[in-house]
Order: sequence, then C-alpha cells, then structure tokens
Amino acid sequence: MAKIRWLADLPGVLHALMCESERIYLNANEHERSSTEVEPRDLRQARMLLSRYPLHRYERLQPLLRQLRAVKNTTEVELMRRAVEITDGGLRRVLSALRPGVMEYEPEAELVGEFTRQRGKMAYEPIIAAGKNACVLHYNDNDQPCGDGELVLIDVGASYANYAADLTRTYPVNGKFSPRQRAVYEAVLRVLQHSIAHTTAGTLLRDWKRAAQLEMNEELLQLGLLTPEQVAKDTPEEPACRKYFMHGLGHSLGLGVHDLAPPNGPLAPGWVMTVEPGIYIPEEGIGIRLENDILVTEDGPVDLCAGVPILPDEIEQLLAK
Ligand code: GLY
Ligand code: MN
Ligand code: MN
Repeated sequence: MAKIRWLADLPGVLHALMCESERIYLNANEHERSSTEVEPRDLRQARMLLSRYPLHRYERLQPLLRQLRAVKNTTEVELMRRAVEITDGGLRRVLSALRPGVMEYEPEAELVGEFTRQRGKMAYEPIIAAGKNACVLHYNDNDQPCGDGELVLIDVGASYANYAADLTRTYPVNGKFSPRQRAVYEAVLRVLQHSIAHTTAGTLLRDWKRAAQLEMNEELLQLGLLTPEQVAKDTPEEPACRKYFMHGLGHSLGLGVHDLAPPNGPLAPGWVMTVEPGIYIPEEGIGIRLENDILVTEDGPVDLCAGVPILPDEIEQLLAK
C-alpha cells in the first residue's frame, strides 16, 4: 500500500521507520543530461542516513523510479492534457499575431501571456527561431526579426501542476508556405504521422528511432537533399539522414520535459513520448520540426496534441484571419 507523507514530517518519523526497515532506497541525480556542482538535498540526506544508520542495506532508487515515472496514471494524463490545451491556446494567439517584421520575442510574449492567464508556466525556455535560426538546435536568443518569406519554428510547452507539454510548430511568417517550404514541411509531417503510429506498446526505442531514420532517408532523397549513393551507405551507426535530421526522435515526458524512463523502453501503456522529427537545411534558410506528445495505450497510440493545428492548409487558413 502506498503511504505518502509530507517531507516536513520526515524527521519526526524517520527513526521509527529506520528501526523497522532493512533495505532503504535512496535517490541520487543520475540524469544523463544534467549534473550539479551544488550538493542536492538527496545527497545530503544519503550522507546523513549512511552515517547515522551504517548497518542498513542501501539501494539505488533510480532504476525503480525510472519505471514508475515512465508510466502515467489517469490523473497524470489529465494534467498533461491540460498542459497541452494551454500550449494550444498560446500557439493560437501566436497565429493571430504573426506577421512579417515581428521580433521573435513577440510570439514569446503572446505565449507567456496566455500561459499565465490559464495558470500555466513555461515548462522550459521556448525556442522561437525564424529562418536559418531554426537550424541552430538549442537556439533561444529569440531576439531577431521574423522576415517575409521565412518560416518561424516555435518549440514551446506549458507546464500545469508541474506536468509538462512539449510541442513544436513551424509557421510561414507571411501566411503562405512557398512550394519548397511546403514540400519539406509535408515530408516532416509524414515522418511524424508514421512515427506516431509506431508509438506502440512493446516497441524498443532503438527500433522506433531507426524506423524514422530509414523513412527520413527516403524523404530526403525525394527532396533532392541526399543521393541514392548516400542512402545506400546508410548504417544504424552512420544514418544517411543525419546531415539534415541530427537529433533523436523523441523522449519521455511528464514531471520533467525529459522525464525519467528506462533508456531503451520497451514502450508500455501509460508512457507519454514526444515525437519530433525535423529537417534542417541551413543553406536554404529552412528549419522545420513538428513535435506532438503521444500516450501509449493497450489500444494503440493516443495523440494528446491531436487538436493543435498542424496541416499546412489549416495553418494558412488560421494565419489568413
Ligand atoms: N523542447 C525540448 C525538446 O524538444 O526536447
Ligand atoms: Mn520541444
Ligand atoms: Mn521534445
């Protein structure tokens, strides 16, 4: 049975708990993408326990926590749906305010305003990247003008009750995709749709990503960005698409934007994964990424972002208003 208490109660109950327990599971920061110089609370706590109760058995909590955090219950999924809904509201405001000449921080201001009004927060520093800035993967200066004829890539998520959304949309600043922009956009959209369909229970993350790379190779061939010789040389270690699609396909999402989860899956009911293929062509000033959040269920993938406009015609219509 789960028994949950406030952290502030711990000193009062700790000694009694220690006297009746043999094995203690302790948390430590094992996140592959973050480390810290300052000693965190978890580590202080571990030192204190080890010195006061040296004869207990201590174990790493992280392997268990990864399993537990990856699987969301229905309450958690509801909070994530709300985070997506708030993000959608912000993106719709951006669509109504976007025009040539606006600075990248102006869409950001629309997003912050709408999130605040809906009692959400920014889950992470948003990327608002016009034109070639969209090819800089972790761009977040957000201080350049959005030019006529350029696309603007917006990677943003609200958090609600500490649960994060993580979405990316790419819009034409003047309201119309050029034929080339539309062709690249539709290629990314196809890879997104097929990868969402592949976000199924039992799938290993390695296979999930690899399938998207193979599909991306074919799309890049059609776009004239790769040659058949380059595609023929493709290997899992050196995927041909890497020059234009150089990041992962997605990650677990929840209390963290990059949430804890077993590193290779397999995907299981209750997992929420981002799916975020992209094509970045700096020499053409085009960077396009599309990112949705997907709940894995026994009956297949459920797209939590299904209501967020993504089809190119739909986006042009919204921008025309
Ligand atoms: N916004 C961070 C990511 O897409 O992973
Ligand atoms: Mn993102
Ligand atoms: Mn993401």
